[in-house]
Amino acid sequence: MVQTSSPEIQETDAERQPPPAPEYSSWISQDRSTDAASVTMRREAAELVERVMTHYRDNTTHEAEGQWTEPVAHYHDADRWQREMDSVHRSVPLPLAMSAELPRPNTYKALDVLGVPVLITRDRQGAVHAMINACRHRGAKIIEPGCGVSKRLTCPYHSWSYDLAGELRGVYAEKTFGEVPREGRSLIRLPAGERAGIVFVSLDPAAEHDLDAWLGDLQPLLEGLRLAECHHYGTKELTSPNWKVTLDGYLETYHFASLHPKTVFETNLSNMMAHDTWGPHQRIAPALRPIAQAVELSPDKRDPGECVGPIYWLYPGLAIAGGWRQKIAVSLVLPRTATESVTQQIILLREPAVTEEERQAADRFGEWFYEVVRDEDYATTYGVQQGLQALSGTDFVFGRNEPGLQHFHRTIHQHLENTARAAR
Ligand code: FES
Ligand SMILES: [Fe+2]
Repeated sequence: MVQTSSPEIQETDAERQPPPAPEYSSWISQDRSTDAASVTMRREAAELVERVMTHYRDNTTHEAEGQWTEPVAHYHDADRWQREMDSVHRSVPLPLAMSAELPRPNTYKALDVLGVPVLITRDRQGAVHAMINACRHRGAKIIEPGCGVSKRLTCPYHSWSYDLAGELRGVYAEKTFGEVPREGRSLIRLPAGERAGIVFVSLDPAAEHDLDAWLGDLQPLLEGLRLAECHHYGTKELTSPNWKVTLDGYLETYHFASLHPKTVFETNLSNMMAHDTWGPHQRIAPALRPIAQAVELSPDKRDPGECVGPIYWLYPGLAIAGGWRQKIAVSLVLPRTATESVTQQIILLREPAVTEEERQAADRFGEWFYEVVRDEDYATTYGVQQGLQALSGTDFVFGRNEPGLQHFHRTIHQHLENTARAAR
């Protein structure tokens, strides 16, 4: 919490024990893979470390050209939220799953996105599909939200069954129901594709997206992280405020010292990062504390995973933290209403947790991440949410040191503008 003279807040501070920080260990320095993506990743990592090290030496951070003001009404106006959902979430390919969540043939992930029940599957040939998770008989939800393994998708209501490509395969008691032509009764398909260990789905069944173009030059860097080879340890869900209120907190390091003095700031420096964008996507790359020692070492002796903690951020709301490390924390922020979103925290491991000790370490990592985000970030951003109406008519200001927020909001503006132009 921020230093304050308020006795009440000091008391609360004293009561709350931050969870013990989990152990971190670098993966990138141990990786010896010689494929092109891995080689590119290591070369790019070395360059990124140099850039962050320059900020460390000069006590600077990446800066945008100027400040940015954003009307507060843009955060709470219900009509604007609807237009954002139409222009962004219902229009662009959404990163909705990590490949590691459906790692083998006959696996799935089900989740609800803006009222659409989505089912993502990997069929027995290994191909990924997405469909509306609603039965073509009378609409029951076929699979409850979560990840699982199944060769068939059987509706709980009257037992119609589908294969993992969504084709209708069985109709219970068809003799009395009457014949059901299989074609035309498969689950409603949603466009889906998989790139660099991430599954993208479009909520618009008619959309035709070019995922390679959508990711652009970020794709080889994501491929270098080899996320598809990771192991899904577990997922926790948190409710969170409005999607932009929530995501703004993922895009800057300015708040680390004041909001996270005993947690994130123990391992990261505050207000010191490199920043890059690729189309709508971006990466913030905060300096980690061991950079203070690494600065004395020759470049070949530096461990990038110890010096910099890049967060790869895919529009409109997937943050991948720890991609250079053994344990990876993925945050997927899904808007639900104008005032609420849901965050899935997906924990990935480079090596599966097999022993009791490894499981405990993975649990500690997941719990630390969950508690810090809930008790520090979201406790604060729920406060932001509560004050929005009262601040209507004013604006927020994003500093030069908050280029991530500027890029995020600029991109949303562009998408809204594109939609408005198309309607004219
Ligand atoms: S609603 Fe699915 S079988 Fe009836
Ligand atoms: Fe934070």
